[in-house]
Order: sequence, then C-alpha cells, then structure tokens
Amino acid sequence: MSNSTRNRLCVITGATAGIGRASARSLASLGLDLVLLGRSQQRGEALRNTLSRQHAIGCFQFVSCDLSSLLSVREAAERIRQEHRGIDVLINNAGARFDRYEESVDGFELTFATNHLGHFLLTALLLDRIVGAPNARIVTLSSQRHRYVANVKAWLTTPESFDRWDVYSKAKLANTLFAFELARRLESADVVSNAVDPGIVASNFARNNGRVAWTKHIVRNLIHRQLISCARAAQTVVYAAASQETMGKTGKYFYERSEAAPSELALDASLAAQLWKCSLEWTGLNRKNCPAWATVGMD
Ligand SMILES: NC(=O)c1ccc[n+]([C@@H]2O[C@H](COP(=O)([O-])OP(=O)(O)OC[C@H]3O[C@@H](n4cnc5c(N)ncnc54)[C@H](OP(=O)(O)O)[C@@H]3O)[C@@H](O)[C@H]2O)c1
Repeated sequence: MSNSTRNRLCVITGATAGIGRASARSLASLGLDLVLLGRSQQRGEALRNTLSRQHAIGCFQFVSCDLSSLLSVREAAERIRQEHRGIDVLINNAGARFDRYEESVDGFELTFATNHLGHFLLTALLLDRIVGAPNARIVTLSSQRHRYVANVKAWLTTPESFDRWDVYSKAKLANTLFAFELARRLESADVVSNAVDPGIVASNFARNNGRVAWTKHIVRNLIHRQLISCARAAQTVVYAAASQETMGKTGKYFYERSEAAPSELALDASLAAQLWKCSLEWTGLNRKNCPAWATVGMD
C-alpha cells in the first residue's frame, strides 16, 4: 500500500453495506479519513461510530445522500464542498438493480439513476476539489455485466422497453464509459480515474427485489463457486484507491487486483463522449451551476 495514505481524504458512496462498507474499513485501517455517503442515517452513523472507536487518529463523517435523487446529490455535494477543501479519493461504489420498472423522483428509470446519473452529478460537483489534491484518484464500480451490452440504441428506458438485466448491464457500461472518459478528460491534471469489477460478491446486492430473488442469486453463484466475500472484493477497490502499484495508472479496468480487459464497447470514446453530453443535460449541469466547469472544462 501507499506509504502516504495517512491524512488523505476519501469520499465513498454506498458505504453502509457490502463492498462499500468493507472498503471503508480497509481504507480506515490504512489511515485515510473518510466521508461516508449513504441514504440511511442510522446505518451511516453506526459505521462512523465503529470506525471512530477502532481508529483513534482517523476522521470519519457521515453525509446523507440518496444517489437516485439529483437534489439529494446536490445537497450532499454542497455539504462536502463547504467542509473540505481537497478530496484525494472519490469512490463511486453505491449501486442497485431494480427488477421492476420504477422511476426516480426526477423521472429516470431507477437503476440508471442510482448507478450512473447520481455518480455523474456527484463527481462533477466535487471535481474541482479533487483536481486540486495531489495524486488524486477516482474509482468507479463496474461489473462484468457491462459485457452483456452489444450496442446502445438508447440510454433511457421506458416501461415498455424495460428489461431488468438490460438496464443493469447498461448502467454498469455507463459507469465504465464514465470512468474512462474522466481519465481522458483529466489526462493533464494530477488525477487518475479507473473502473473496478469487484467479481460476484456475497453482499446485500439485489436484496431490494425480495428474499427469494436474492437467495436464488446467492445459491446459483455458490454452486458455480463464483461467490467471493465483500472483504475480498474490497481488496480490488482499495488496490485502485490507495495502492502504490496503481499510482499514476489511469483509464484501466481492475479485476482481482490486476488489470483486465473491459468490453470493446466500454473503450468506445465516441459513445463515452455521447453519454457525457447526455448526462450533462439529464443532470442539468451547466457553466453556471458546475464549479468544476472553469477548472476542468466539462463540455
Ligand atoms: N454484489 C455483486 O455481485 C456485484 C457484482 C458486480 C458489481 N457490483 C457493484 O458493486 C457495488 C456495490 O454493491 P454491493 O454488492 O456492495 O451491494 P450492496 O451490499 O447492496 O450495497 C450497496 C450499497 O449502495 C447503497 N445504495 C443503494 N442505493 C442507493 C441510493 N439510492 N442512494 C445511496 N446509496 C445507495 C446501499 O445503501 P443501503 O445500505 O441504504 O442499502 C449500500 O450501501 C455496486 O455498484 C454494484 O453494482 C456488485
């Protein structure tokens, strides 16, 4: 691990469960200060208290944020901006798959809103704070599901075109394209951006779809001996976020603590640019309301 992790500040989404919580624990052990984002005040404060008890020198803060709501993301970003001048690491980890068509408060299909749009907006609103930090890193959670997208006819889904696996695969492709587009755009800044495939993980993932669906998912992957623990999945997140080995590496796809090849579509720069442009529009970002615009050039 990097010997300079102490006093570095990491903002991590979805810290209240699964891979995010395991990553937060490891990063706290390495001496990083953490801003834990989550939608449950109770779970967030419980984690913050545990980390504070276990690590006397770290600073831990919980910030409430529902990533499926653009307003909630704006409020969380504003709070972080007011309290922190520099952000060394941002981990876009939170995610969910919704098996039935549901809409976010802003009218977007919920899987796409939660996995991609919330993180796009959060990253954009924090970007000028990240660009100022030395050796800054952005890590975005992808999934092997991104490989299941052969082409993208439309990013947005209607109730008629809804397919639970299709929307989740597209959302994870969007995460991956976004990670690589950030890497290209931040090439001349001291910031790296990478995607992490955590593997198939025994977490709470998809539990929102009911106990039966979740149990089937766990049992199927157990039988195929594919399931790994949250702690093991977190090793690759921490590898991307804080290790010496990945220092300076950008635009990479990490799996099991090494570089792996993403799908060809994930490397399509014109698709990534198109998604970026649409995401600016969908999240309502512009020169006036995006602090990073002048620093980084968002358009
Ligand atoms: N599990 C897998 O097999 C697998 C495989 C590939 C990729 N991934 C990716 O890994 C990441 C972490 O998933 P996980 O397996 O750790 O799942 P998890 O155990 O369900 O944890 C997901 C985290 O995201 C948070 N979250 C969900 N919706 C949110 C929202 N609207 N606003 C804010 N936070 C929200 C959850 O908060 P609550 O505590 O409030 O629920 C939780 O902290 C996701 O991006 C997922 O796509 C997982």
